[in-house]
Amino acid sequence: MSSLATPVASSIRQLRVAFPQQSFPVGQDAEWCVVYDGGEWREFRFHDYAQIYSLPGLYEKIFMEHLKSRSHMVMAEALVRELQLRNRPLEECRILDLGAGNGHVGAQLYELGARHLWGVDVLPEARFAARRQHPQVYSGYTLVEPGWLRELQDFRFDTVICVAALGFGDIDPNLFETVLEALPTGSLLAFNIKEQFLNALDPSGFNHLFTHLQAQGKFKPLRQWKHFHRYSTWGEPLHYLGVLAEKP
Ligand SMILES: C[S@@+](CC[C@H](N)C(=O)[O-])C[C@H]1O[C@@H](n2cnc3c(N)ncnc32)[C@H](O)[C@@H]1O
Repeated sequence: MSSLATPVASSIRQLRVAFPQQSFPVGQDAEWCVVYDGGEWREFRFHDYAQIYSLPGLYEKIFMEHLKSRSHMVMAEALVRELQLRNRPLEECRILDLGAGNGHVGAQLYELGARHLWGVDVLPEARFAARRQHPQVYSGYTLVEPGWLRELQDFRFDTVICVAALGFGDIDPNLFETVLEALPTGSLLAFNIKEQFLNALDPSGFNHLFTHLQAQGKFKPLRQWKHFHRYSTWGEPLHYLGVLAEKP
């Protein structure tokens, strides 16, 4: 499990969260809840990550405690197992955590033995929250801004993990391809994605991206499997597709 610093753990105890009663499911990107932090009840939409990260402990309260989010563990463990199979020492891998948020994936990998982790996200609030909650985990944390990859030159990443950050208007196919281009050959990638985004008719562009990367020999899927991601606000289990791949 991700380690929680004490101030965050105590603010989690003070927070109260209530989910809407719905007679029909809403899309994952439209989910919301109301939160009481000792002052007043306020509405939070799940895709307003900046707002959620800014209230210490709220992400953990909603996604870990109530909705039983598991993707960070599933994907971190899958990557570590694959590295073991290849006799690649985890502590030597230089891992880029793409869409790192407030650092749960990094913290999970750190707990399993990774020592070179670099976070990337588009939100300053995510970086702030990751540093607040997991100060020991990342050697660096870069914001996606023009020229952002230059900041990573010295880190020389050779492994990428990207959890629950593709699709739904988050990381787009262009950014994913840019990161893949910067990876040395033979590198491993671990990511998960909702299966709908891989459908040939889906407009997100991920189906086209993976099809053309494979055709060009730039991307080789090794293993894919369906796994429990979390519950929705109306109690339905949500599943993602976990993918382990290699840059051949
Ligand atoms: C659902 S959160 C997942 C966070 C983390 N990977 C985890 O599993 O706890 C998705 C994250 O992707 C980030 N994100 C969205 N668009 C992005 C982009 N274009 N570049 C980098 N990160 C992005 C969001 O800011 C958010 O922190």
